[in-house]
Amino acid sequence: MTEPRSTPASADPATVQVGLGDRAYSIVIGTGVLDETGPQLAAIVRPGLAVVVSNPTVGRLYRARVTASLEAAGFRVAGIEIPDGEEHKNLAWVAFAYERLIEAHAERSTPVLALGGGVIGDLAGFVAATYLRGVPFVQVPTTLLAQVDSSVGGKTGVNLPAGKNLIGAFYQPRLVLGDIGVLQSLPRRQFLAGLAEVIKYGVILDAELFALVEAELDRILQQDAGLLRRIVRRCCELKAAVVERDERESDHRAILNFGHTLAHAVETLTEYKRFLHGEAVAIGMAFAARLSRARGLCDETTVERLVALLTRAGLPVAVPPDAAGPALVLAIETDKKVAGGKVKFVCVEAIGRSRFELLAADVIAAQAAA
Ligand code: NAD
Ligand code: GLY
Repeated sequence: MTEPRSTPASADPATVQVGLGDRAYSIVIGTGVLDETGPQLAAIVRPGLAVVVSNPTVGRLYRARVTASLEAAGFRVAGIEIPDGEEHKNLAWVAFAYERLIEAHAERSTPVLALGGGVIGDLAGFVAATYLRGVPFVQVPTTLLAQVDSSVGGKTGVNLPAGKNLIGAFYQPRLVLGDIGVLQSLPRRQFLAGLAEVIKYGVILDAELFALVEAELDRILQQDAGLLRRIVRRCCELKAAVVERDERESDHRAILNFGHTLAHAVETLTEYKRFLHGEAVAIGMAFAARLSRARGLCDETTVERLVALLTRAGLPVAVPPDAAGPALVLAIETDKKVAGGKVKFVCVEAIGRSRFELLAADVIAAQAAA
């Protein structure tokens, strides 16, 4: 599978459209976009109360700028603060947010803004989808992962003790504001984890993007703003095209799960403590490429290019020894995307081209032991 070619990068900020009919929306990408929150929001909802959901880490850095922009555009701003961390992406903190919305007299027309990474985006999105059966939702993603992936496409949700993202709703934002400048304060490890998702888009859909990351990795790691804007924009274009074709993951959208089957198993078996999600995805992508090679679907050069790029980006590529044997088979089998005992495993055919293979968990696990 491949996606349409991008138009050349243009002036700052860039806008990508997600064409979903009456639920279409814009993704605005550029440096300083945070300070445009008020006018951007006022263009889609009438100024009144606006609720900003964030966490203490991101809130301390960026809440004042977002609030000032909203107030200058005529909004009254209420804040909801969720503690930092994946362990708070749960129903208890959803209920906390509902209570705060009621206290603030939030109505059906009150926009909820998610200011943060994927954790805040997923939780606030689920709150927006369900409070009063749905209020306008705006994503203001502040991690690279959130800017290239989680803020686009409408997957919202929270975790249960039984597993990640088991509760949720497809609920598209009305607007996404991706400020490249905020990535400067992102811890380097988090930035690299987001880069794994960028590399993923290149492998599955866009050889040109992959080659760009290969050629410009040093400048990317130095956070060259123009280059980052171009890359975030391209990833958003690719994701928009996938979501437009298959919004609810009935088929094609699952291509975005490249590397994720093994990643989820590794995360489960290491109790979500050893690897960030993007790091686990890097391990899973290197694994998926080796498996594709073993099945004769791609050549050795494809595997080598992917592993070399991930390694240069400081990402892990080796399956940890404790993700092996029956425990690995079980972890793969309990992934929520298994159907009829088979995993719709994303394989690579060449850099920029991918396809599905239906594989049993033990076949996948056997490759990990190879
Ligand atoms: P995160 O939201 O936990 O953010 C990572 C860390 O960076 C946090 O400590 C956060 O406070 C901090 N941070 C965020 N922005 C910052 C900034 N600009 N400067 C300094 N610190 C900053 O993690 P994440 O990687 O963004 O998101 C992971 C979550 O996203 C997971 O819950 C995952 O399930 C979800 N996700 C959802 C989708 C989707 O389609 N909805 C896709 C991929 C991942
Ligand atoms: N992150 C995968 C998706 O949005 O489908």
